[in-house]
Amino acid sequence: MEKLNIVVLTEDMDLRIHIKNRLSSEAFVISGYSDFGSAAVLKIENMFPDVILCATQGEFSPAQLDFIQNVYTSIAGSVIVLMTDKVTVELLNEAAQVGARQVLPLDTPMGELTEKIKAAAFLERQRSSDLVLGPRTRSRVLGFFSGKGGTGKTTVSVNTAVALAREGKRVLLIDCDLQFGDVNLLLDLEPKDTIVELVQERGGIMIDNIRAFSMVHSSGVSVLCAPKSAEFAELVTARHIETIIDVVRPYFDFILVDLAPAFNDVSISAIENCDQLMLVYNLEILSLKNAKVCLEILEQLQQRDKAQLVINKNLNSMIKIKDYENIFEMPVYAAIANDIKTANLCLNKGQPFVTSLPKTQIAKDVRALAKKISQEKQ
Ligand SMILES: Nc1ncnc2c1ncn2[C@@H]1O[C@H](COP(=O)(O)OP(=O)(O)O)[C@@H](O)[C@H]1O
Ligand SMILES: [Mg+2]
Repeated sequence: MEKLNIVVLTEDMDLRIHIKNRLSSEAFVISGYSDFGSAAVLKIENMFPDVILCATQGEFSPAQLDFIQNVYTSIAGSVIVLMTDKVTVELLNEAAQVGARQVLPLDTPMGELTEKIKAAAFLERQRSSDLVLGPRTRSRVLGFFSGKGGTGKTTVSVNTAVALAREGKRVLLIDCDLQFGDVNLLLDLEPKDTIVELVQERGGIMIDNIRAFSMVHSSGVSVLCAPKSAEFAELVTARHIETIIDVVRPYFDFILVDLAPAFNDVSISAIENCDQLMLVYNLEILSLKNAKVCLEILEQLQQRDKAQLVINKNLNSMIKIKDYENIFEMPVYAAIANDIKTANLCLNKGQPFVTSLPKTQIAKDVRALAKKISQEKQ
């Protein structure tokens, strides 16, 4: 069954974790978290969640209730559910007034919580289909990551972006390897402006500025390049990355984020704000060990269920795809052939192999990955 998308609004970090643990991962995906502020409105408008789950310990403040009412009146198609440890008759009345459909105690057992939220979302869907809302297209944000340099994150993300654009999708590629980003080299782009100029722009991070500071590659992919010099990297913060992703969502079908091989504030923010995280690894022992540590950290960050394994440089080796699948108890999402000649030739020329050498196995494999991504249901 199709999973329901949830945005969780709470000011309380512990509650985020509490709620995540209470939602069955088979029925729901949490597409974002926010506090009750203007950033939340942006998130909700752009993500089209099925459910907006507002949670607090104790009472909701008048300002929070006002905010919830605002969301209710301005956003159709999402059902609002309140959760608190203090369910009172007064709150039930207030909830009805501000447009929340359900009020649930924080300790509602998982099965009951799942059923109640599903029922509420189902009713809202019926209501909004009666109102004949337009089709809800939701963009997908895909991170490309590994804790190890050289596994092929950039090669795979760039070529996947181009393959998706060739399928007619609107694609933005963000080079989030802020110190050593080289997406522009693989696409033979010489950026005048980059992500640093964007975040310093007086007008703020608006879609018009993002477009103005991006470059459009001949394949149609829009590219937001990494700073021209590593020393500028620190000017870009985790908050900037979150805002950029929130702002661009309605304008692209796919937003691909190429990440640096490290957990830091910026990469964690990107990971938290992406829908799927492609972990790019190779068939050798250091990759395997790195994947293990990486998945453990993702687990601690409550992000492991976004992770997919992509095996790059696939060749006959001591370590097999099956080993990854057995050790991590998850299927490998895609495997891409080892072809150093094609990979390096295309890198040196700045021409993605999916279009410049489309008949090679490596190009076929990346196109298959792009197809799988684009065919996947939201
Ligand atoms: N499937 C592949 N087969 C052979 N070599 C590859 C493949 N993918 C990438 N490479 C090569 O591996 C090196 C590192 O790739 P890169 O994409 O920069 O990795 P990362 O972004 O993970 O650091 C480059 O020389 C690239 O050409
Ligand atoms: Mg890279």
